[in-house]
Amino acid sequence: MIPSYANFGGKIHGGILLSLMDKVAYAAASKHAGNYCVTVSVDGVNFLQPVEVGELVSLLASVNYVGRTSLLVGIKVIAEDVRTGTVKHTNTSYFTMVAKDDAGKPTIVPELLLETPEDTRRFLEAIKRREFNAQYREQFDNARTELAAEEQLHLLQQERCQLGY
Ligand SMILES: CC(C)(COP(=O)(O)OP(=O)(O)OC[C@H]1O[C@@H](n2cnc3c(N)ncnc32)[C@H](O)[C@@H]1OP(=O)(O)O)[C@@H](O)C(=O)NCCC(=O)NCCS
Repeated sequence: MIPSYANFGGKIHGGILLSLMDKVAYAAASKHAGNYCVTVSVDGVNFLQPVEVGELVSLLASVNYVGRTSLLVGIKVIAEDVRTGTVKHTNTSYFTMVAKDDAGKPTIVPELLLETPEDTRRFLEAIKRREFNAQYREQFDNARTELAAEEQLHLLQQERCQLGY
């Protein structure tokens, strides 16, 4: 990680890491799909520890799951201090990618060969992730509709805000 990647606090910008992760997700997904892929969504971007200038960052990626046209790529990011050999885990995130054909339409991706019990565990976890995300989207949409009502304003009483209108 070179100095120009750092923010004003001297740590590496989260956006630099996200950009690297997006490229790695693209590489993994398009290699499996045999087609160009686009990023649809990213789950689990929590930066657990800062990355310092000079650290060697490695991204470990695998295609964990395939749907019909989508693929879930898990990416683990680690940063190593090359002088001490200390390695820290900075984050693990999940990129949903969709394969596109030459006309820009989503296109079917090959099945995934699960070669180890670990591959199977990741595939099963991805199914759950997909289910939970769908449930979350539905519940959140319902909650947003309810929040539109004026009588929900009491929820703000315990919060650190003031009404300015
Ligand atoms: C992703 C995209 C192709 C989906 O288009 P769509 O008309 O909804 O297509 P479909 O409904 O057939 O969905 C295609 C796949 O994407 C999945 N998908 C769509 N929206 C999703 C979301 N928000 N999260 C996770 N998966 C999603 C669908 O489940 C489906 O997967 P499957 O075929 O494995 O079952 C379209 O929204 C798109 O092109 N977005 C822009 C992506 C892009 O340009 N990214 C770069 C960053 S700007």
